[in-house]
Amino acid sequence: MKSIVFSLTFLSLFTLVACEGEDPVPEENTRPKTVAEYNKVTEGLIDYYPRDEYFAVGAAIEPASLDKPGEVALMKRHFNSLTAENVMKWSTLQPTEGNFNFGPADRIVDFAQANGMLVFGHTLCWHNQVPAWVFKDGEATASKELVLQRLQTHITTVMTHFKGKIYGWDVVNEAIDDGSATYKNNIWYQICGADYIYKAFETARVADPAAKLFYNDYSATNATKREKIYNLLVDLKGRGLVDGMGLQGHWNIEAPSNALITAAFDRYKSVDIELRISEMDVSIYPSDSDPESEYTSDISLKQSAAFGRYFSLFRSYRNDISGVTLWGMADNHTWLDNFPVAGRKNYPLLFDVNLVPKQAYFTVINF
Ligand code: XIL
Repeated sequence: MKSIVFSLTFLSLFTLVACEGEDPVPEENTRPKTVAEYNKVTEGLIDYYPRDEYFAVGAAIEPASLDKPGEVALMKRHFNSLTAENVMKWSTLQPTEGNFNFGPADRIVDFAQANGMLVFGHTLCWHNQVPAWVFKDGEATASKELVLQRLQTHITTVMTHFKGKIYGWDVVNEAIDDGSATYKNNIWYQICGADYIYKAFETARVADPAAKLFYNDYSATNATKREKIYNLLVDLKGRGLVDGMGLQGHWNIEAPSNALITAAFDRYKSVDIELRISEMDVSIYPSDSDPESEYTSDISLKQSAAFGRYFSLFRSYRNDISGVTLWGMADNHTWLDNFPVAGRKNYPLLFDVNLVPKQAYFTVINF
């Protein structure tokens, strides 16, 4: 008897040690592996990635999706955070000076609140989808003072409107240069220098002290750009102005490598801020010059492996990552159909054009 008890204790100790640090795998994995099995259960991404154990799983949406029952069902089953794909950008929120248009964004926020979902705000200051009037004073270019004052008014009005309803804001989007310069030479920079970045974060901190403030950018795993972003984050953190780094995650079926992703995660988390994957999609085209392709079984396999690889990294950084947001819900609606090549159909998400889970979905949930 004694020896049985001993061996049992030894066995469970061994199991405990062996499992430490690994993903908690259920005894018997009953998670669906086929569409037929998926159709028999009700669980979705948020059940396999509970937010308190992993991170919020989100999607970027347009308000129009809220009118489509199939998309609403997909949203409720799989996602516990939402981001407005476009309607919280300046051109929608304040198309002309002083005229704020919150209706479309309110629909998304109200839906999220009614369904217990988080909202990530995107984005307060960007060089795209911002109206020309912001930078004009009559016919002339506006002064730095006028532009910064408009930035302050915009951020204060928007954050006050949504106060208490937004987990975190992408305060500044894409301010770092892809080449050898430090800052992107956009219209904000041309008029204000880097001061617009500080002004945006300072204003945001005051407007809603409870909201997390993120810096957000693409190619954030690129080693050169990573160091420039890191320097900005250190600077902002030193001023008490930043809480998180959003890596957009517009990746593809080949890149980036695990080494680049982990190097970026490690570098950013060393600033003592949280990490987010804010706009994830996995393009089937590694290169801008790849010709349009059908969604072949070979591509499906490669994409599934890539999604599996990326999510496995997210799981190992689950203590640092607060959210993973896909830039769209399903392949029926993706900005990559028109970027970087107009009219080249892409299939970068976990669900197909009919909202049916792809092999990549099954790989992501079976761990
Ligand atoms: C994209 C939207 O998905 C498109 O619908 C829109 O036409 C252009 O903007 N980086 C960002 C996002 O920060 O706001 C962009 O979203 C995609 C790239």
